[in-house]
Amino acid sequence: MTNSISCAENFTVNDHKGLDARHFETIHSKLESIDVPTQTQQYVLYDDSLEVKQPGEDKTFDEIATAMRHIAETMNDRARHAARAVHAKSHGLLKGDLKVYEQLPEPFAQGLFRRSASYPVILRLSTNPGDMLPDSISTPRGLAVKVIGVHGEQMLPGHEDEVTQDFVCVNAKAFPVPDAAGFLEQLRVLEKHATDSETLKQAVSTTARVAESVLESIGLKSATLLGFGHPQTHILGETFCSVAPLRYGNYVAKICISPASENLKALTNKHLEIGGNYSALRDAVVEFFGTNTAEWEVGVQLCTDVKKMPIEDASVEWDEKESPYVPVARITVKPQHAYSPERRVYVDEMLSFSPWHGLSAHRPLGNIMRARKKSYEASSRFRHSMNGRPAAEPKTGTEIPD
Ligand code: HEM
Repeated sequence: MTNSISCAENFTVNDHKGLDARHFETIHSKLESIDVPTQTQQYVLYDDSLEVKQPGEDKTFDEIATAMRHIAETMNDRARHAARAVHAKSHGLLKGDLKVYEQLPEPFAQGLFRRSASYPVILRLSTNPGDMLPDSISTPRGLAVKVIGVHGEQMLPGHEDEVTQDFVCVNAKAFPVPDAAGFLEQLRVLEKHATDSETLKQAVSTTARVAESVLESIGLKSATLLGFGHPQTHILGETFCSVAPLRYGNYVAKICISPASENLKALTNKHLEIGGNYSALRDAVVEFFGTNTAEWEVGVQLCTDVKKMPIEDASVEWDEKESPYVPVARITVKPQHAYSPERRVYVDEMLSFSPWHGLSAHRPLGNIMRARKKSYEASSRFRHSMNGRPAAEPKTGTEIPD
């Protein structure tokens, strides 16, 4: 049962003490306009048994890592340089701050968001192919966020000596397939078409924006399968989501990072003229951050029903009427050079982002998330070893070059 009135009542006058007025306004007006379950017990409590391993899933995960490695090797051979197996092309590398809102209600004050604090963050905007395509071939977008300086929390295995929490998101609310087996099928198509000419990919992309059915004629099952045909819009107007669930302290959640400042909102669905510009998205981001400050809101959607909001099937979008995204933090990025050569080397070449970098309190959950662990590690190892660049994991924000 949900109730927007008693939800607002959850914030007593005492709760407002010390709360930044603007942030309180945001949280308060959001909570008043949405239905938030008022009883903590309505949120599903985290338990290890919520995850159910599929028989033979480890073999599927290995096959995915191998196929990804094959794509990365193919691209490395062409470019004489190793990039990420997917999301190879970056469009903006930003340095900012994440501020956790004060006085969050208990179910939302969990893990990183347990108490109000500010952290330096690095943001990497990307598009999803494993090769460097011209931006006229429009594809879905990604946003990877690394929060730096998280001390005193239990970290995930393999990440114990580090102080970072990554959120790796795309501009969608659900995954195109339910599980890793479905993803492997898709990946096989990508693997097969990895060496297709840019001309063919351009044709697929353009056609996909017009009519997906036409693609059958050139032998491709679906353009969305290849991720082509995304509308040619400004990347800074996108909302980026975790798509798959993660542990949220005592609860289970998906997260979304959405435009909060008016200048970002104005870019949502805004057509971006690409023309013949190979890197129109990067140029648009660099131009924007030449003068603008931007703000994104981090929203958390808690699971209220594991049947309607499954953990193991990432293709199900969790209904926001059942449980809305509630704002828990704000990311602010001030004017800066959004793609300096030094920052590109550091973020693109030396850093890795993974849902498996972070706090135990934000452990990734479900089959798709489990599949990602091995592939991200292998992809990162491969590109670092091929390019002879050391892997870095920052301890402080000062390590991010301007
Ligand atoms: C079975 C599922 C998936 C597999 C196997 C997979 C695999 C990978 C790999 C190998 C990388 C490159 C890592 C590196 O070299 O550092 C990567 C990057 C990325 N993935 Fe996934 N991924 C999967 C699902 C997802 C999902 C569900 C999302 C979004 C919610 C996502 C978003 C991204 C993004 C944004 C990047 C770029 C990260 C960066 O900027 O460094 N992936 N993925």
